[in-house]
Amino acid sequence: MTVLVHAKADLAKARAALPGRVAVVPTMGALHAGHLALVKRAKEVADSVIVTVFVNPLQFRPNEDLDTYPRTLDADLAMCEAEGVDVVFAPNVNEMYPDGREGLTTVHAGPDGEILEGASRPGFFTGVLTVVSKLFHLTRPDAAVFGEKDFQQLAMVRRMARDLDTGIEVVAVATDREPDGLARSSRNVYLSGADRAAALAIPRAIAAAQDAPDPLAAARAVLAAEPGLDVDYVAVRSADLGEAPDRGPARILIAAKAGTTRLIDNAPVTVGDAR
Ligand code: PAF
Repeated sequence: MTVLVHAKADLAKARAALPGRVAVVPTMGALHAGHLALVKRAKEVADSVIVTVFVNPLQFRPNEDLDTYPRTLDADLAMCEAEGVDVVFAPNVNEMYPDGREGLTTVHAGPDGEILEGASRPGFFTGVLTVVSKLFHLTRPDAAVFGEKDFQQLAMVRRMARDLDTGIEVVAVATDREPDGLARSSRNVYLSGADRAAALAIPRAIAAAQDAPDPLAAARAVLAAEPGLDVDYVAVRSADLGEAPDRGPARILIAAKAGTTRLIDNAPVTVGDAR
C-alpha cells in the first residue's frame, strides 16, 4: 500500500517508518514507463522507495510550460501502487517554498551548469539543484535514482551530491524509448502528428552519430534535413561533459523544438572510429 503525503511533517513520519535502505526517485509527475524504470531500479538498490511528485516552478522560465505541464496525480499514484512504491510525496508550491521565492537560498551548479541546457535555459540548474537538495534533506535517502535522458541534470546532481558531501549514492538509468525510438518524456503528449514525425529526426540523428567517425557531422546532417525541427544545440562532449576527445568514447547531446515542444536526447558515441 502506497502512502500519499502532501505535507513535510507527514513525510517525516512516513520516512521514519521505512525499513532498511531508502531510495528516492524525484519526478515532476505525469509518470510514464521511463519513470517506472527508475522506480524498478530504486527497488533493486534499496529496501524502501519514495517517489516525489512536484512541478518545481523554480526551474521554469516565464516563457516556458509551467502552467500547462501535465499534472496527473491520481494516475501517478495508481502507477506507484502497482510498482510497490512505499511513499509518494506530492507537496504544493507553498509547502516547498513557504517564504516565497524572493530572497530564497539556492544551490548553484559550477561552470558545467552554464553550458548546453544551462546556456539555453538560464537559471534552470539552480532551480533543479535547489529543489533536489531540498528533496534530499526531506527524504533523507541512501540512494537517488535519475534518468540518463536528462544527462546534464544527472551529471549536475551527481556533482552536487559529491561536492556537498551528501553521502547519497546517485544511480543512473538508461533512457527508455518509445517503439519509434523517441525518448520517453512527459512532454511527448504535447506533440501533434506532424511534430512527432519531425521529432523522430532526433533518434535518427543519434543513430547516424553512433555509426560515424565524426558523430557531430553525422547528426547535424540528419537534423538539417528535417525542416520541422528547430535545433537549439547539437554537441559532442566527453562523458563528464568536458571537451570532446579527439578519439574514443563521448556523448552526443541534442536539444530541438518540434512545434512548440522542446525535446532533449543524448547517447554514447565513439569519436574517430567508424563501427
Ligand atoms: O527531471 C525532473 O523531472 C526534474 O528536473 C526533477 C529532478 C524532478 C527536479 O524537479
